[in-house]
Amino acid sequence: MTPAGSLLTARALHKAYGSTPALDGADFSIHPGEVVAVMGPSGSGKSTLLHCLAGIIRPDSGSVLYGSRDLTHMSDAQRSALRRSDYGFVFQFGQLVPELTCLENVALPLRLNGVKRKEAEERSLEWLERLEVGEVRAKRPGEVSGGQGQRVAVARALAARPRVIFADEPTGALDSLNGERVMTLLTEAARDTNAAVVLVTHEARVAAYSDREVVVRDGQAREMAGLA
Ligand SMILES: Nc1ncnc2c1ncn2[C@@H]1O[C@H](COP(=O)(O)OP(=O)(O)O)[C@@H](O)[C@H]1O
Ligand SMILES: [Mg+2]
Repeated sequence: MTPAGSLLTARALHKAYGSTPALDGADFSIHPGEVVAVMGPSGSGKSTLLHCLAGIIRPDSGSVLYGSRDLTHMSDAQRSALRRSDYGFVFQFGQLVPELTCLENVALPLRLNGVKRKEAEERSLEWLERLEVGEVRAKRPGEVSGGQGQRVAVARALAARPRVIFADEPTGALDSLNGERVMTLLTEAARDTNAAVVLVTHEARVAAYSDREVVVRDGQAREMAGLA
């Protein structure tokens, strides 16, 4: 059973790297349109939880339900198809493809989903403009600033209209002004498209953009109590 109306639910996740337990019975759920911050100290298991929810790694045990489908029972090919069609990703260091222009980077998920080049590039330019970086469209990632590159990465994550956006320390490499702007643009765009956001961060001022906070400690996730 999943909580009523939830989009993505993890139950009793266990994952160990050798003898190091990274997740030790973690539960998690998120609703459509909800922004949930996953907090906790370095090494507590935040990224491992995100990778299990996103189907990037398979937990040793436990379930990850996306709608009625259990990611832990899906093949690698099925999980990558799901990531392409329904998920968007923003990592700490953009992870843009260096050989492509910024516009081509944003268009890439659309192209992989079968959108024709012209339409993909038009939609991508709209997203770059919305993220206030239309001017970098013809540049390669190596030719733009960290803040610009991260806005391009957010545009890329949103362009294919994902149902869930996974953001792992998305502002970790930015100064505070750029970080706040990126968080504002990311959460506004997510709310407009009713996408859920799993926001991994160890910074309270980034978590402040969320609707709800979950704290991971020693591989277990708990709701932060007392937040209205
Ligand atoms: N690929 C890996 N190989 C070995 N150990 C790992 C790997 N990924 C994570 N770990 C370990 O698992 C634990 C949780 O890591 P992680 O989920 O990255 O934490 P966080 O994102 O909260 O910093 C840590 O002890 C970390 O060293
Ligand atoms: Mg991490």
